[in-house]
Amino acid sequence: MALAIVLILLALGSVAFHFLNPWHATPVASNWGGIDHTLTLTLVITAIVFVAVNLFVAYTVIRFRHREGAQAAYQPHDKKLELWLIGITSVGIVAMLAPGLRVYSQMIHAPRNVIQVEVLGQQWQWSFRLPGRDGKLGRSDIRFVSAANPFGLDPNDPNAQDDVLIEGGELLLPLGHPIQFLLRSKDVVHDFYVPQFRVKLDMVPGMVSRFWLTPTRSGTFEIACAKYCGLGHYHMSGHVKVVDAVQFQTWLASQPTFAQTQKPAGAAHRASNPSDDLVSKGRALAASHGCAACHSVDGSRLVGPSWKGLYGRTETLSDGSKVVADEKYLKEMILEPNVKIVQGYPPIMPPQKLSNDGVAALIAYIRANSDHAK
Ligand code: CUA
Repeated sequence: MALAIVLILLALGSVAFHFLNPWHATPVASNWGGIDHTLTLTLVITAIVFVAVNLFVAYTVIRFRHREGAQAAYQPHDKKLELWLIGITSVGIVAMLAPGLRVYSQMIHAPRNVIQVEVLGQQWQWSFRLPGRDGKLGRSDIRFVSAANPFGLDPNDPNAQDDVLIEGGELLLPLGHPIQFLLRSKDVVHDFYVPQFRVKLDMVPGMVSRFWLTPTRSGTFEIACAKYCGLGHYHMSGHVKVVDAVQFQTWLASQPTFAQTQKPAGAAHRASNPSDDLVSKGRALAASHGCAACHSVDGSRLVGPSWKGLYGRTETLSDGSKVVADEKYLKEMILEPNVKIVQGYPPIMPPQKLSNDGVAALIAYIRANSDHAK
């Protein structure tokens, strides 16, 4: 009898919790309606089955409880009952899956006036590409990917020249304007996920997956990688900031275009204090390239050696030889990390495609951490 009461309370308590709980999904993008309705439909159907099964079990526990002289009847087969169960189950499953086809179709068929935003995933950072004044994204090809051209844009495509490139960190989107996301990966399968936008989609190397939505609420929302993609997976995050159209245009105009990033280096560095400038650039690179997932700056041991006090330190390598962590060694380790492994650490760091400027900035940052440590 106690078991029957527990089952009845469990069924009724679950229903009560659903209606009384204070957590509700917030509509922040145009696609929330269709997707949430599909989820609600699935929840209602599974909830009806859950409550019915629990109440049925509670009923049988009471109805067929042990009584003196009562005997069980053996009934191996009931064709009519089986047909009913198959029929009801089929209807339930079709009702849960069919609306998804319609919602998915709406999600991938974008209207004509969308702004295309390319999201590029790699271990373990997000980068973004937006069309420049011409409103068109230029061609890209894996053959063009290099340290100086991380997006692999076709240097001869006129549409690519004004493409705006954002490496790591934060993506701004205009409120109330339809956005189409084009998702690419440079290495392994990642998954672009902004929970408040409801949608998540795998990014598979070699193909472009896409969906669209219109952000309907301003605010900052976290981007997470929703596919296990290696050791730094947990650290692969970024932010989407939905702002008004003016703020968006101002931000867009302040970001580098592809043509600007292809100009010879040198002219770009004209800051008042070049060494501080370099260190802060290195800090930004360390954050956007996910370095902090494996290298601490406070001396604590993570997957890779800590950067605290690293510069100038003598390291013992896996083959027993010794090496001083100077400029040359660090550069080698950033570009070809698994050649000279420090003893006690696994050879798992992905080589970083960084320009000479980028490497210099990162080393300046590592060096700054070492100077503080002394
Ligand atoms: Cu990228 Cu997990």
